[in-house]
Formats: sequence, C-alpha cells, structure tokens
Amino acid sequence: MKDYDGYNYQKYRELALNKNLSVYEKIGFPDSYRKGVEDKIFQDILLKCPLLNSKERLNVLDIGPGCSNLQKYIFKICKEKQHSLYLSDSPEMLDLIDNDSNNIIKVPGMFPDTFDKIKSLCANGFDIIICYSVFHYIFVDSNVWYFLDCLLELMNEGAQTIIGDIPNISKRKRFFASNNGIKFHQEFMQTDEIPEVKFNCIEKGKIDDSLLHSVIMKCQNSGYDAYIVPQAIELPFANRRDDIIIRRP
Ligand SMILES: C[S@@+](CC[C@H](N)C(=O)[O-])C[C@H]1O[C@@H](n2cnc3c(N)ncnc32)[C@H](O)[C@@H]1O
Repeated sequence: MKDYDGYNYQKYRELALNKNLSVYEKIGFPDSYRKGVEDKIFQDILLKCPLLNSKERLNVLDIGPGCSNLQKYIFKICKEKQHSLYLSDSPEMLDLIDNDSNNIIKVPGMFPDTFDKIKSLCANGFDIIICYSVFHYIFVDSNVWYFLDCLLELMNEGAQTIIGDIPNISKRKRFFASNNGIKFHQEFMQTDEIPEVKFNCIEKGKIDDSLLHSVIMKCQNSGYDAYIVPQAIELPFANRRDDIIIRRP
C-alpha cells in the first residue's frame, strides 16, 4: 500500500509543481471542497487549539501545511501573535509559500524524517502543533507509532495539538447506513439508489475506529490527554472524518 485514495507525499510533490492546478487542487481537493470553506476550517482549528489566539510568542509547528488559504490563515494569526511558525512539507510545496516574514522557518522534507532537524532548530519545543489532512499520508508513507512518538516528544507542557481531517471508514459506514446518509448520497449523486455499505469485512489499507482509538491509547499511555472529536458540522467532510486533539498536561 503506497497511497491513500491515490495520494501520498510523492504525489503532492508533483502536484505542487503543476502550474495548471488551483491551490486547492495542488493539495488534493477539488475547488468545491475547499473554496470558501477554509476560513471555517481555520475557526474549527482555533476552537481546538485556543492557545493560537490566546497567547503570544509561542512556537507553532505545522506538519504538511500545503499552499492554500488555510496555510495563509495560520500564517496570519502567527504573525499577529508573534508566534514562530515552523513548516514541515516537501521543498516543492514550501516553495509555494511566501517567504516574506522572519517568523516562518521552513524545514523541507517528510515528517517524521525531519524530526531531528526540527528539534535542533527549535530546542525549546512546541506549544501548538497542527497536522491537518495529513495523517492518512503518514499512515501510508511512514510508521504512525513512530510519528506519534516524535510528535509527542516535540510538545511542551501545556501544548495543544490537532491531528485533523482524518478519514475514518467506520464513521463513513455509520453515516451511509443511516437515513441521513442515504438522503445525502441520493441528493449528491442525483439517484434513488441506496449506498452500498458492508460491515464485518476487511477494509484493506483504510483507517478505521480501531486505529483512531489506538492512537488515543498510545497518547494516553505516553502521559498525554487525547480525544477523538467531530468537525464543525458545516465542514465538507464532517460526516466521514474525525479530528484528534492531544493536550500535554
Ligand atoms: C491534503 S494536503 C493538506 C494541506 C493543509 N494542511 C490543508 O489542510 O490545507 C496534504 C499536505 O501534506 C503534505 N504531506 C504529506 N505527507 C507529509 C509528511 N509525511 N510530512 C510533511 N508533509 C506531508 C503534502 O505535501 C501536502 O502539502
């Protein structure tokens, strides 16, 4: 298994170089899924990581920032609050991010391969870590348990982390087996058909409840609080993706 629904770190390097794509397409979304929605995603992230807005001069790490407006909103608040913003993404993706500010520190490469470099650049650790719509690629390209060890090690006492927008096949099935899910499918696909949902089967290469709950236990066993939480209802993937919040006591 080398990709998640056709995407992985390498694929994003290619998309970043393709001049014919919109900023949303470069990060793997049709325009309709992200255009005009990213401010709502940002507000949802603020709710889950309130330190971003409530304190100043913090260290913030964005793993897989991409190049669309969500990255710009995160950059803007970091500038306003005088946070130092560290970005770990491919060199091709980072090249698309304006370099007009001395509060941005780019660390090109795939996380957690960039862990040592990040740690050497920011020995004081991080107060906020954002990893939005990236976990499923780390799941295929890397080792999620090692990723988590690195992530947790980077978190200061009191730090807040969001691992957001994780596709969860179990949640997707629960939704499409429900009356609301059937209605959604029929309206979206312009059909009278009932969506096919199979339970008690192998879902090869997909993230499900068992993995998300194991991530929570891994964080808790490491001494951190962790929660699976829903996305704001108006977000495009709210019915089939989950967010994880991690807090270091
Ligand atoms: C779906 S986009 C999400 C971008 C941004 N976080 C957002 O939600 O708007 C995934 C991004 O993660 C980056 N990425 C994928 N795997 C990564 C990894 N292991 N380390 C760092 N960045 C990664 C891709 O290059 C891409 O920019």
